[in-house]
Order: sequence, then C-alpha cells, then structure tokens
Amino acid sequence: TMASEPVNVSEFEALAKKALPKMYFDFYAGGAEDEYTLKDNEEAYQRITIRPRVLVDVSRIDTSTSILGYPISSPIMVAPSALHQLANPEGELATARASAASNTIMILSFSSSYNVEEVAASCDAVRFFQLYVYRGRHIAANLVERAERSGYKAIVLTVDCPRLGRREADIRNRMIVPKLKNVEGFVSNDVDADVAWLKSITSLPILLKGILTHEDALKAVEVGAAGVIVSNHGARQLDYSPATITVVEEVVRAVKGKIPVIVDGGVRRGTDVFKALALGAQAVLVGRPIIYGLAAKGEQGVKQVIQMLKDEFELTMALAGCTSLKDITRSHVRTDRDRFQ
Ligand code: FNR
Repeated sequence: TMASEPVNVSEFEALAKKALPKMYFDFYAGGAEDEYTLKDNEEAYQRITIRPRVLVDVSRIDTSTSILGYPISSPIMVAPSALHQLANPEGELATARASAASNTIMILSFSSSYNVEEVAASCDAVRFFQLYVYRGRHIAANLVERAERSGYKAIVLTVDCPRLGRREADIRNRMIVPKLKNVEGFVSNDVDADVAWLKSITSLPILLKGILTHEDALKAVEVGAAGVIVSNHGARQLDYSPATITVVEEVVRAVKGKIPVIVDGGVRRGTDVFKALALGAQAVLVGRPIIYGLAAKGEQGVKQVIQMLKDEFELTMALAGCTSLKDITRSHVRTDRDRFQ
C-alpha cells in the first residue's frame, strides 16, 4: 500500500528488518563492540550545518561528476559489501543492474555471493573490484587477473582488515558466514609491498580504502595510490575510530589534490553528500542502505535508494545555491571546529 512506501533512505532499514531473518539483518546492520562509531558515523553528519547561498539562480542543477575519468550521474557510489545473496536471491546481480541503471559505479566486494564474471555478465557498466591481499597472494593474483579480464576499471584495496573486528551481534547469533565464493585466509596488510606487487601484475588504478589519518593518506600518495577512501568499514572494525566525516578535511589537506578522496560511513541523506563534498571529498560510497533496499525490494529497492539520495542531494544543491559540484565549497558548511574557533 502507499502508506508503507518509504519516503527516505532510513525507512528502508525497517523494511529490511521485516524482510530478513534476524541473523542476517544483524549481520548487515551491526558494528564492532559498543557500536559507538556506528552511531557516531551518522551523528557526526548531524553536527554539521549548511550555510546556504540564496541569491543564486538555481533553475538548473547539474549533479554529475566523474571518478578516475569515468562519468557518473551524481557523486554517490555503491560501497563494496559482503554477501548480497543473503538479502535477495539475485544478490549482486540485482545490485549491479540497479547501479548501472542509476548511472553510477558499484564496487564489487571480494566477499561477494556471485563471482566477478557473473556480476560482469549481469549488465554493461563501469565497475570497480574490492580486494583483500591474503598471505601467499595467489588468490589476489587470480582475482585481479579475472577482474581485469572481465572489464573492472579499478582495484579498491581495503586496508583496515588485518583481522576481523569483533561484531557481537554475530557472535551472539552464531552467525556463520556461508563459504565465500572468493575465499578465506589471513590478510597481509603490508601496504608498501602489496601495492608495489599489485602494480607489477595490473595496470588498473589502485584505490586504498580504510584511511583515517593524514599519516596514512600521505603514505597512500607515496605508494602511488590513485585515490583514497576515508572509511572505518562502516564501524565494523575498530570501535572508537573517528566518525569518517570528521577526518575528511585532515585527509584532503594531506593529499593536496594529488589524488581524489572519497568517503563512506553513515551517509543517509542528500545533505550528507553535500557536506562531504563541501569538506573536500569527490564522492561518497553508500553501504547499508543499498543492502536494505535490496532486502526490501530487490533491484527496484536499490534503484529507489540511490534515486532518493540523488534527489535529496539535488534539492540540497538548489536550496544551498550550488548549480554544479564545483560550486560546493568549504564555506557552505559549518563544523564543530568552526564553532569552537
Ligand atoms: C561492509 N563493508 C565492506 N568493505 C569492504 O571493503 N569489503 C567488504 O567485503 C565489506 N563488507 C561489508 C559488509 C557489510 C554487511 C557492511 C555493512 C559493510 C564496508 C563498506 O564497504 C562501507 O565501508 C560501509 O558499509 C560504509 O558505511 P555505511 O554506509 O554502511 O554506514
């Protein structure tokens, strides 16, 4: 019925909760330990206000941009997340089709339910592949080769998982992660060596995902990363790591425009996307809302989630007096730090 139609992205969470077995919903929704960072990822956005410029003609708004040279309809991309088949039988195939229909880029998780070739065959689109480099490297080598051959355009190396974070809901539920199509083992996390090695086996650009400090951002530039993703893994790894939006500026300042900065974690509103861009990010990734859309309504649900965020972002631009992304500047937001200075 119309009454149950979600009007914002957060409402998909309740629909997903109804649609899924508790164990799976908890796996998707949960964070590490106290879930302090899980809450803070969203709340930190709420502490930032927008300084709208109203004396601007906003009859035309252009939300489009590009990432590593690939055009996307808005700076909202799909984060890599594990095991979409637990949300819907079509799994990543549905997510991939919805992302393509939304003219945005999906990053396929290393821990996907469908493999790289199956997702590549689902539809024509620019896609990136997320990688963990396990000791021995043969698994990574095989996957990178297959991803490159099936047309993925970048490797997103996740560097915040030397070990798995402690997710208590999964422990309580005895959540047993079904055997991953791509594998298991121990992540090496020797980033210098791993990136050098990756560069010797692929010509694809390499983004580092999981950066939270200026020190690591500088190192990412030094090792030749094509971009960094400011991320705390959706608060599933180190609890009490900072809310990602609070460290975007630090990372942006460190990389000095040499490589793009993307941020994820807690993006639930178009205003969040606007704030991230005002603080210097080039794009955002969305994690859980995509999975909730998939669980609630399959491919259509994922499309709706992306469309809602994009519509809200477009409206935010108009109400804040920005007609294209280059108009969104640091002076359009006010953070805690601005207030205390
Ligand atoms: C993730 N994330 C993740 N990241 C990654 O690099 N590889 C992975 O396989 C996964 N798997 C995964 C599963 C689930 C269920 C979640 C919720 C998240 C992290 C993901 O890419 C992203 O950083 C966060 O999801 C962003 O935060 P939000 O949007 O979920 O708040």
